[in-house]
Amino acid sequence: MNREKIIVIDFGGQYNQLVARRVRECSVYCEIYSYKTDISAIRAMNPKGIILTGGPNSCYEDGAPTCSRELFEMGIPVLGLCYGAQLMMHVLGGHVCKAPVREYGKIEVTVDRTSKLFSDVSEKTICWMSHNDYIEKTAPGFRTVAWTDNCPAAAMECAEKQLYAIQFHPEVLHTVEGTKMLSNFVYNVCGCSGDWKMDAFVEQSIRAIREKVGDGRVLCALSGGVDSSVAAVLLSKAVGKQLTCVFVDHGLLRKNEGDEVEAVFGPTGDYDLNFIRVNAQERYYKKLAGAEEPEKKRKIIGEEFIRVFEEEAKKIGRVDFLVQGTIYPDVVESGLGGESAVIKSHHNVGGLPEHVDFKEIIEPLRDLFKDEVRKVGLELGIPEYLVFRQPFPGPGLGVRIIGEVTAEKVRIVQDADAIFREEIATAGYDRKINQYFAALTNMRSVGVMGDERTYDYAVALRAVSTVDFMTAEAVEIPWEVLQKVMSRVINEVKGVNRVVYDLTSKPPGTIEME
Ligand code: XMP
Repeated sequence: MNREKIIVIDFGGQYNQLVARRVRECSVYCEIYSYKTDISAIRAMNPKGIILTGGPNSCYEDGAPTCSRELFEMGIPVLGLCYGAQLMMHVLGGHVCKAPVREYGKIEVTVDRTSKLFSDVSEKTICWMSHNDYIEKTAPGFRTVAWTDNCPAAAMECAEKQLYAIQFHPEVLHTVEGTKMLSNFVYNVCGCSGDWKMDAFVEQSIRAIREKVGDGRVLCALSGGVDSSVAAVLLSKAVGKQLTCVFVDHGLLRKNEGDEVEAVFGPTGDYDLNFIRVNAQERYYKKLAGAEEPEKKRKIIGEEFIRVFEEEAKKIGRVDFLVQGTIYPDVVESGLGGESAVIKSHHNVGGLPEHVDFKEIIEPLRDLFKDEVRKVGLELGIPEYLVFRQPFPGPGLGVRIIGEVTAEKVRIVQDADAIFREEIATAGYDRKINQYFAALTNMRSVGVMGDERTYDYAVALRAVSTVDFMTAEAVEIPWEVLQKVMSRVINEVKGVNRVVYDLTSKPPGTIEME
């Protein structure tokens, strides 16, 4: 597809994903690449513009991430942000050094509105600053177009060469008019037309899938999660009954989840596809019996999934294409994209069977961010409760039951979790908390209920707020809500006599229990 694009070059800043996201919010497609990417590769991508991100280093130190002068001489507009701005000045002959006064937080910046970057931006505007170094002297040919009391060069430009540099972070929402500034860059400077729209995306994808698949047969592992559901519906709209979805119920799903997925995708659901539900609960519980160690459990669950899936694929016979719900952050986190890459062993990428004989993998959501996947889901008419589902790990309740998994423990955690989710929704917090669930500790303790001694399990409630799921904080849930959940769990869920609220942040904890 010949779509116009902006390239974000990543210098390890915490906001690199945000930069790309904001650009895409301006209806311009955007991809992130490491600063190590070859200049010829960048040129070959033919971007309309390039944005250099922030980063934790000082550009004048030995070994700091850098870029070549050539990057600024290709005739392609470049916008440097924070570290990217300093680097641009450093490489082009300006001077960057430790700032006499470090700036951090929301700061009023004065901008020169004659700059294309700041057209329609207020002359005095609040921006998010976070820097220890500053630009003491701009590079030759640049003029200063924004400043603060402590930062005489908060933005600069060399308009004839289409080079722009901003010391603050327009991508962060604290910069009140930041999106306007980025939009000015992509439209006024780079001359983009804005061809990245969701309905167009759906249409284009369907056309491209049809062309690729022809009369081939397509297999999809459906988990009921947002990504695989959206991928499956997109495929079903494109190739209908040529698609078979296999949904493995491993007995570690949330309460009623298996039936909910079947109601949407099964024979009585809304879509014209072949749906196979494999009830593998017993098989999983048998395999998991005696396994207490988290990594061992994860391995068993993952391997068994592949085995079940392969068996089903064999029954179907010919499979030409395999569909995966890979999304853009998966690609980046797997080390294929950006610089601040973190590889997670539990990732979806590459998690499918090797022995199924197929021609090619189809990843229709590979270029999208999560919120964009949700928009596509809504565009495709998938029910909201599925589209806005909270993240749920592949190993399911297997990593929310500490120690050995048994059918009985699954029942306890399913029931407690259903109550917790219901009460959170009733209190109106369901869209405000990024992830929340009940887990089963492996701890039993003495209690008293109706004059009887009990020796039962403790359920842990967990609720976190997080932006990227790499770090997280426990959410302050009102006491009344917690108390209501506690009292309902103890009264309604047999085998529980204690409820605790998990206050741990990540790090040092993780979001899941194991
Ligand atoms: P942790 O527990 O590592 O989780 O802090 C971070 C996010 O990833 C989800 N998670 C998983 N997702 N397969 C997945 O698809 C997994 O094995 C897995 N383990 C954790 C977790 O729910 C949270 O959103």
